[in-house]
Amino acid sequence: MRADRPVALVTGSTSGIGEAIVRRFARDGFRVVVHSRASREAGLAIADELGGLYLQADLADDSAVDGVVPRVLDEYGQLDVLVNNAGISRPIPHDDLAAASAADWRRLLDVNLIAPWLLCTSALPALRDSPRPGGGSIVNVTSWAGVRPKGSSIPYAASKAALNHVTKLLAAALGPAVRVNAVAPGLVDTPMTRDWTELRRRWVETAPMRRPARPDDVADLVASLVANTYLTGEVIVLDGGLNLRQ
Ligand SMILES: NC(=O)c1ccc[n+]([C@@H]2O[C@H](COP(=O)([O-])OP(=O)(O)OC[C@H]3O[C@@H](n4cnc5c(N)ncnc54)[C@H](OP(=O)(O)O)[C@@H]3O)[C@@H](O)[C@H]2O)c1
Repeated sequence: MRADRPVALVTGSTSGIGEAIVRRFARDGFRVVVHSRASREAGLAIADELGGLYLQADLADDSAVDGVVPRVLDEYGQLDVLVNNAGISRPIPHDDLAAASAADWRRLLDVNLIAPWLLCTSALPALRDSPRPGGGSIVNVTSWAGVRPKGSSIPYAASKAALNHVTKLLAAALGPAVRVNAVAPGLVDTPMTRDWTELRRRWVETAPMRRPARPDDVADLVASLVANTYLTGEVIVLDGGLNLRQ
């Protein structure tokens, strides 16, 4: 029997953008599944505070990824919203091709592209069963770097560009039962970008909004994409307008 409240799984939700999303969903009445790779204590504390479930799984490991959705269904018996937020990035100068090794490419693609694909695949039957208006919903957190020829490294930008395209292909394939959208943030103040002072300066000087995003700015947009019952196949750039100038 389905419970009265929908269930949302947010990958990488012990920090930064993912934590803001999971907190927003809890405020919106969802039962939440908090997930991370290593930060178990933080995950348990957030899940406890929000009355949700915490799952630990390294998304670079296919067998760990395969275990995630079954554990959600064991606990709650349903899954209505999947947010593929977890991602990794390591700055590599774009003109230093040798610095982006095959191992760098594989790890970035594993975590940023293939793991979201595997999670969409295993979540699909449950998402198709969601009775929510507008059906089940997937939101992929990609990046401005997947839309503009920029970003912390070429492998990172390519992984996010690929996920943007997968978003559109899945939206076309899975409607009307499941909607699929992406949020492509520019610079967001999170632990990942703590030391990116030069980029922060560019945002403050050049973006019409004159600041990087806050994690809550992204969470608000994700919540709207999930709440909307018609929108699908969109990649929404959330960069404070920087793309108008660069
Ligand atoms: N911050 C930005 O400016 C920005 C801009 C555009 C797009 N994004 C995208 O937004 C998403 C969130 O970024 P953020 O800045 O909020 O990152 P963050 O603060 O570094 O948090 C990353 C989260 O993902 C988890 N994670 C990392 N690697 C993982 C793995 N192999 N398996 C499972 N979980 C893993 C982390 O768990 P552990 O701590 O346990 O490793 C953590 O919960 C990423 O996809 C990123 O590419 C960020």
